[in-house]
Amino acid sequence: MNSKVMVMDHPLIQHKIGIIRRQETSSKEFREIIGEIAMLMSYEACRDLPLEDVDITTPVAKATVKQIKGKKSAIVPILRAGLGMVEGMLAIMPAAKVGHIGLYRDPETLEPVEYYCKLPADIEIRDVFVTDPMLATGGSASAAITLLKKHGAKKIHFMCIIGAPEGLKKLAEDHPDVDIYIGALDDHLNDHGYIVPGLGDAGDRIFGTK
Ligand code: PRP
Ligand code: URA
Repeated sequence: MNSKVMVMDHPLIQHKIGIIRRQETSSKEFREIIGEIAMLMSYEACRDLPLEDVDITTPVAKATVKQIKGKKSAIVPILRAGLGMVEGMLAIMPAAKVGHIGLYRDPETLEPVEYYCKLPADIEIRDVFVTDPMLATGGSASAAITLLKKHGAKKIHFMCIIGAPEGLKKLAEDHPDVDIYIGALDDHLNDHGYIVPGLGDAGDRIFGTK
């Protein structure tokens, strides 16, 4: 099976990504726009949700209308930066449960180090949306998804705002069953594993820690 990869080229998403890339964008604006992009990306990602017919009565007549077929979802941000996408996604999927996976990238080896995992108890029956604004080497995303699968998750989507070709390749090879949604696919990684042109360190920019 090959991963389904969707680069979201909606003009509103592209415009907002242009703003968060700028080094002069403040943490406040950065955080707000990350949330807005996550909301727009969720809207696009829900395009294929299955619908079913239900019979209702309007004030005028009986009618058959569409409703989303009762699929339960979960949003699982990779800490820290993935947290910035949660509120925006909940605006589109208000009934979703939220799990958390704590991973940081060792600055020397660039390997992910796990420090936290708390997931909804019924994760195996939920459509899981893993969020992280950045897909660089792909190590963090791949490790988070491996962990989710160990906990029983079956249908997993990965949503990031900026990806590097290296990370996309790794994720698609490690987890060909996972759908990948990307806001923008950048050029390459630099020697420190940062995405070029990218936007810098997403966690630091969201939380103002540098
Ligand atoms: C960043 C980012 C991803 C990871 C991407 O997190 O939010 O989780 O790096 O890099 P990778 O694809 O090479 O694994 P970081 O490790 O800086 O942790 P933080 O969110 O706590 O700042
Ligand atoms: N993590 C980030 O926050 N930014 C990058 O460019 C790479 C990894």
